[in-house]
Amino acid sequence: MSRIVYLNGEYVAEEDAKISIFDRAFLFADGIYEVTAVINGKMVDFEPHMARLHRSLGELGMAQPVSDADLKAMHLELISRNSLNEGLIYMQITRGVAERDFGYPENARQTVVGFTQAKELIDPPLAKTGISIITVPDIRWQRRDIKTTGMLAQAMAKEAAKRAGANDAWMVEDGFVTEGTSNTAFIVLDDDILVTRPLSNQILPGITRRAIMTLAEKGDITVEERPFTVDEAKAACEAFLTSASSFVTPVVEIDGARIGGGQPGPVTRKLREIYVSAARNG
Ligand code: PDD
Repeated sequence: MSRIVYLNGEYVAEEDAKISIFDRAFLFADGIYEVTAVINGKMVDFEPHMARLHRSLGELGMAQPVSDADLKAMHLELISRNSLNEGLIYMQITRGVAERDFGYPENARQTVVGFTQAKELIDPPLAKTGISIITVPDIRWQRRDIKTTGMLAQAMAKEAAKRAGANDAWMVEDGFVTEGTSNTAFIVLDDDILVTRPLSNQILPGITRRAIMTLAEKGDITVEERPFTVDEAKAACEAFLTSASSFVTPVVEIDGARIGGGQPGPVTRKLREIYVSAARNG
């Protein structure tokens, strides 16, 4: 059975959702998006995702063609029409359809799409075993704080990880880890200090990152926002990544070096447990 997806105000079968070849997201990656997790049919951290959507639109001078209330209603409708219990909702807004020309068009009809992806989030096997990552140079542009659909560098990094037999990749610039292909990078030092890169134009302000930092501080774990090197990560007692699509996932190997003896550590497991239980209780 095919999914019901949202396209410009309509709910249609996925095979019937058609977009113009002149859409600027197709031609220039001139679109922004959000991915929100769903557990037990309920959205996790929807408001912060909306706040980040507003920021992305603002930074690109892109209008918001559908109100917040209608975007929320769209998410709820997609959950209901697809009976989504556990998984993700992807929402994208583009600058719209216009003759191919680099400058921003006036009065282009913007495109808004939404779709669901069923996915095991609470108990996926890799959350128990942890994952291996490789590090790759961060070859992206300088506005990584905007959640645009321009994700080719990340796709290349994921592909490099796959070819190297690893699960994912962290990107590195000037010797310091920026972030994961589609997640925020954390390390744990001295059993109770979390280190993650401070926000800037060099990384996406992760919604899960913020939630985990708040939960850690409540649990008397110190959070240090500073850049860290690959060597520091390799020598850390634990490492993990966060995102809406993986919550908190232990990283047990970096470029072939085992972290924490190759097993998920206690801080990572605890943070994952607290986060999942907070998300479940909405
Ligand atoms: N990606 N950094 C990058 C580059 C990302 O693409 C993402 C999320 C994150 C984590 O952000 P959040 O905690 O708000 O999910 C960090 C989503 C999940 C994706 O593209 O599928």
